Amino acid sequence: MNETVAPGGAELRARAEIDLAAVRANVRALRGRAPGAAFMAVVKADGYGHGAAPCARAAVEAGATWLGTATPQEALALRAPGAGVPDDVRIMCWLWTPGGPWQEAVEAGLDVSLSGMWALDEVTRAARLAGRPARVQLKADTGLGRGGCQPGDDWTELVAAALRAEAEGLLRVTGLWSHFACADEPGHPSIAAQLTRFREMVAYAEGQGVDPEVRHIANSPAALTLPESHFDLVRPGIAMYGVSPSPEIGTPADLGLRPAMTLSASMALVKHVPGGHGVSYGHHYVTPGATTLGLVPLGYADGIPRHASSTGPVLVEGKWRTVAGRVAMDQFVVDLGGDEPGPGAEAVLFGPGDRGEPTAEDWAQAAGTIAYEIVTRIGTRVPRVYVNDGNDGDGGSGT
Ligand SMILES: Cc1ncc(COP(=O)(O)O)c(C=O)c1O
Repeated sequence: MNETVAPGGAELRARAEIDLAAVRANVRALRGRAPGAAFMAVVKADGYGHGAAPCARAAVEAGATWLGTATPQEALALRAPGAGVPDDVRIMCWLWTPGGPWQEAVEAGLDVSLSGMWALDEVTRAARLAGRPARVQLKADTGLGRGGCQPGDDWTELVAAALRAEAEGLLRVTGLWSHFACADEPGHPSIAAQLTRFREMVAYAEGQGVDPEVRHIANSPAALTLPESHFDLVRPGIAMYGVSPSPEIGTPADLGLRPAMTLSASMALVKHVPGGHGVSYGHHYVTPGATTLGLVPLGYADGIPRHASSTGPVLVEGKWRTVAGRVAMDQFVVDLGGDEPGPGAEAVLFGPGDRGEPTAEDWAQAAGTIAYEIVTRIGTRVPRVYVNDGNDGDGGSGT
């Protein structure tokens, strides 16, 4: 196992270890579920908290040929030479606002998503300035009710305008795409309705003369459970990090996935207290008897949900402990029930579960949220420590 350690020793307090062999294995497993489709690794939000560039490289090593981000800034960062992403990997970004870096995106050869006429106007202007055609993907709102162009007159207008701009050499329509609302709820009636609407909107655009390289709609749950949604490309995010999209779909192990992030900290203090001792702000926990308290140096500034006060699970010396009282900005306390782990003893908040530690799903349940949020919100103050960064015998290069 090789390891990249953050400078300055910050990992002595707490660390999020990212197993890049797990990312590669997850990408391969997901590709196996969608054998006819290209793979877009979704690495927005700093790779769901795992680190965008290292996870993008790992995904590419395992066969991803596309990367997806929300913002253009995230996409441009991956195009920068330091990111180590090969030039032939396509990068798409979909969350634009007026005045965005359209020209930089066109010059960098990014695929940009358009949902409306204002964006088409801005990208064609940028293409003129850049002196090269933009690569654009038209996004259809097939029922999510978020981004995307509405079916009917809006789609007719956008497709027609895109084809006119294509004829002028200002852009190439490289993709037609959409996004599911409820793919994590297998059998939800909106899934079939969205697929039907997607097929109709694609057929309309193609009938008008659009000739896309890729048509795509499948996020992780769809990639895992809905082969009919795979089209030319699947676009998983959470599953490539080894986290299940929802308990309803299965555990990571059920899905052949391995969680890539392990979050742990070194206990900052262990001390004896008498019974009846209030713990942390508000005294929402009072020791039921004489006990030992352990101080875990992670708090909501690090992404530990305050909603997990009195509920979040932590593994210390082989035993599950529970957050005692409130999670504070930088620290929380666990009741160690009289045990006395040595100074610096490891507290594991979540990981793959191999050592009996809780998982991100356990924290999601404790905090009343989804595991996506648990991993994505781990803060920048927590160093990411990368292990298995290639050459570790797992056939790191897409084998
Ligand atoms: C447009 C788009 N595509 C794909 C994804 C990946 O979704 P998931 O993480 O559920 O695979 C997301 C994530 O929210 C998204 O916004």
